Amino acid sequence: MGDLGKGYKLVFLGDQGVGKTSIITCFMYGKFDTSYQATIGIDFLSKTTRYEDRTFRLQLWYKKLSLGDTAGQERFKSLVPSYIRDSSVAVIVYDVASKQSFINTSKWIEEVRAERGSYVIIVLVGNKTDLVNKRQVSIEEGENKAREFGALFMETSAKAGFNIKPLFCKITSALQGNE
Ligand code: GTP
Ligand code: MG
Repeated sequence: MGDLGKGYKLVFLGDQGVGKTSIITCFMYGKFDTSYQATIGIDFLSKTTRYEDRTFRLQLWYKKLSLGDTAGQERFKSLVPSYIRDSSVAVIVYDVASKQSFINTSKWIEEVRAERGSYVIIVLVGNKTDLVNKRQVSIEEGENKAREFGALFMETSAKAGFNIKPLFCKITSALQGNE
């Protein structure tokens, strides 16, 4: 019988264009695309990964959900709890070249804690580290916020393929430790 491993739901949250789809695409297919295609609707992909002789079946869920104050906010907002429900891990992404996307991660983290309490593993991810000259958020600011919210932290670049595998290793390691 094949080792299917235990399944875990990971939800990806964060502002539009921060690189959620790119991180997933890099992890799944080792590819990067510079053209931007907004994610509409809910997508999910499944990948099995091994960590210390164990198999983990990761279900990666990603959806563009707005917590902003744009029209339709309430409609989007009402979707968030059902999206987050049953998640083991929330990956909250910002763009290190966008201060606003970093500020907005607080709302996402609070939303996840409200829905999932302390059961959920939260990972704060600062993506696009390759944009060295455009950086607006330091690694220390990211680390401090993660600490404040009891979240794990990682900086990545989906474009450079930097820290993508380590990010998912950190996640499976945390899942293992949570049992
Ligand atoms: P929504 O689905 O609209 O919420 O966006 P998203 O968070 O899925 O962002 P997406 O992955 O589509 O990336 C948005 C844009 O940023 C695309 O043009 C990507 O090529 C680019 N991008 C993503 N990751 C990186 C990165 O690490 N570095 C750089 N320079 N660009 C990136
Ligand atoms: Mg997307």
